[in-house]
Amino acid sequence: MINDIKEGLNKMLRLRAIRITLVGLCGLALLLVLTPLCGSVSAEENPTQTENAVKAASDSVGQAMTAERTVNAAMGCSYRTHVQNVGWQSFVSNGVISGTEGQGLRLEGIEVNLENVSSDVGIEYTTHVQNVGWQNYVKNGVMSGTSGQSLRLEAIKIRLTGADAENYDLYYQVHAQNFGWLDWAKNDASAGTEGFGLRLEGIKIMVVPKGDPAPGATDRPFVTTNIQTVYQTHIQNIGWQGWQKNGELSGTTGQNLRLEAIEIKNDNSESNVGFEYQTHVQNLGWQGWKKDGEMSGTSNQGLRLEGIQIRLTGANANLFDVYYEAYVEGFGWMPWVMNGETAGTEGLGLRLEGIRIIVQLKGSQGPSPTKNELGSMAQLVNKNHSVSPDYVPDDLVWVNLPSTRDTQLRADAAEHLIQLFNGASAQGLTLYCCSGYRSYATQSALYQWNVEMYGVAGAELVSARPGMSEHQLGLAMDVTSATVDFDLVESFGATAEGQFIRDHAHEYGFIVRYPQGKTNITGYAYEPWHLRYLGVPVATTIHNSGKTMEEFYGIY
Ligand code: DAL
Ligand code: ZN
Repeated sequence: MINDIKEGLNKMLRLRAIRITLVGLCGLALLLVLTPLCGSVSAEENPTQTENAVKAASDSVGQAMTAERTVNAAMGCSYRTHVQNVGWQSFVSNGVISGTEGQGLRLEGIEVNLENVSSDVGIEYTTHVQNVGWQNYVKNGVMSGTSGQSLRLEAIKIRLTGADAENYDLYYQVHAQNFGWLDWAKNDASAGTEGFGLRLEGIKIMVVPKGDPAPGATDRPFVTTNIQTVYQTHIQNIGWQGWQKNGELSGTTGQNLRLEAIEIKNDNSESNVGFEYQTHVQNLGWQGWKKDGEMSGTSNQGLRLEGIQIRLTGANANLFDVYYEAYVEGFGWMPWVMNGETAGTEGLGLRLEGIRIIVQLKGSQGPSPTKNELGSMAQLVNKNHSVSPDYVPDDLVWVNLPSTRDTQLRADAAEHLIQLFNGASAQGLTLYCCSGYRSYATQSALYQWNVEMYGVAGAELVSARPGMSEHQLGLAMDVTSATVDFDLVESFGATAEGQFIRDHAHEYGFIVRYPQGKTNITGYAYEPWHLRYLGVPVATTIHNSGKTMEEFYGIY
C-alpha cells in the first residue's frame, strides 16, 4: 500500500500539493487529488520536499486505516533560505532548520510555501533587511530579502491569510547572531532582532491546528532597541496632562505645581520590556508597585508625589537601563537615577513637579543632566554655566545685618541669613556681611581689578568672570569677622566664626560653595567665607552628601 503511494508520487513529481482521501477500512481505495505545481522549484530539484510529502502521505494513510474515516494530509509549510557563501539551500518542512547555526553565516533571502493545502489558506511574510528595514509582504513562495547584495536578514514576520487561516497557528523561530535561538513567534509577530545590526542565521517554521501547544518557549521571540517609553502625570490644577515620551518633560517646571499621580508604559508591545514603578505620596509613604500603564499616586485628593522608583520588567529587561530625573521643589532638576533608585526625596516634604524618563541600552553613557532654569533657588552658576548680563533678581532687599558695607540679597536668602547670624550670636559669635548681590557691571570691574593685581591665572582662582558669579544671582554672601580684621582670607576658616559657618550654615539654607581641596572641581581657591543660599532641604542634602554643587547635580 505505502509502496503504491510512493510509486504514484514518483510518477507525479512535478505536483506539489497533494490531497489524499481515504475511503473505507478494507477497500483502501485511494484517491489522489493533485494540484498543479505553481512554484519555481520542482520536486526533482528538491528531494527533501518529496521525502516529506511521502512521509506526510504515509502518515495519513496509517491514520486513516486505524481511524476508519476520511482525512486530509496535514497542511504544512516548506521553506528555503539563501545563505551567505552557500546560496539557496534545499527546501525543508515543518520545523526543520533552514540556514545554519554556529557558522556565522547570514540569511539573505527566504521563500515560504504552504503544502497540502486543502482549504482557503495562504501564507505571506516580510523580512527586516540590513540598511533597508521592513520590506513589503510577499506571499506563497516569492522571495523576501535579497540575493547577491550581501545584505543580512535581521528579522521576519509570517502570517497565514485566507478565510480558513483561523483554523491554524503559525509558529516560527530564528537563530540570531549573538542571541542564538530566540523563542517561538506566532502569527505575524516579529522574530529576530531590530536595531542591533545582527544577522539571522537559521529559521524553523511550523503550522499547527489552531490552539495546539506552541513547539517551545514563546517568551522572547524578538529583541529590539526600539523602546517607546511613554508616561503621563496628573498635575495639581491641571489634571492628566497627556502622554509624553522618551525623555520629554511631563509635569511642569518653575510653576510650583505638584505631581499627584503618574502612569508609565512601553508603547512597543513587541519589545518584551515593561515598566514597574512606585511613588512616595504625601502622608501615605511608598505606595507599592504598579505596572504598565496603571496609575500610581492619587487623584483628586490634593496629595503630592514626593519620590518615585522605576524599574524594567520582561524578557528583554536585562538589556536595558531605565533612567529618570525629577524636578523637585527647591532642587529643580535633581540628578538622573536608574533602575529602581529613588528620584525625588522622601522625608523632606517636597513635591515632585516634573519628570523625564528614558530607556537606553545597557552600558550606554546615560542621559546628560538637565541644567536648572534661571529663577530656581538651585540655579547652578560656574565657569561653564553663566547668567545673562541683564539678569537682575526681582526680589532683592537690603540686608539689615552687621556689615562692612550696604549690600543686597534676594528676600528669602536675606531672611535666612538673619537666622544664621542669630544662630551665631547665640554661640557668642558675631558675623559680618561683606558682599552680597553684585550686578554684571560690578562683577566685571572686580574681575578686571583682580586681573591687574594677580594676572589672569591668579584672578581666575579668586574671582568669577562677569556673568559667572553667584553674586549676580543675589544668592551669595561673603561673610567675615573681627577676628580676621573684616577681611576675606583663608584663615577665616579656622576661626570660631568660620567653623560655625562650616558646621551649621546648611541648617539655615546655605552651603560653603568653594570648600578646601575642591579647586579642581569648582575652579576656585578655598573660600570659607562665600555662602550660597539654596534653601534648607537642598543645602542640607548637599552638605550631607559631602559633594560640591557640581558633583551633586552631575553638572560641571
Ligand atoms: N569669588 C567668587 C568665585 C565670585 O567671584 O563669584
Ligand atoms: Zn563670594
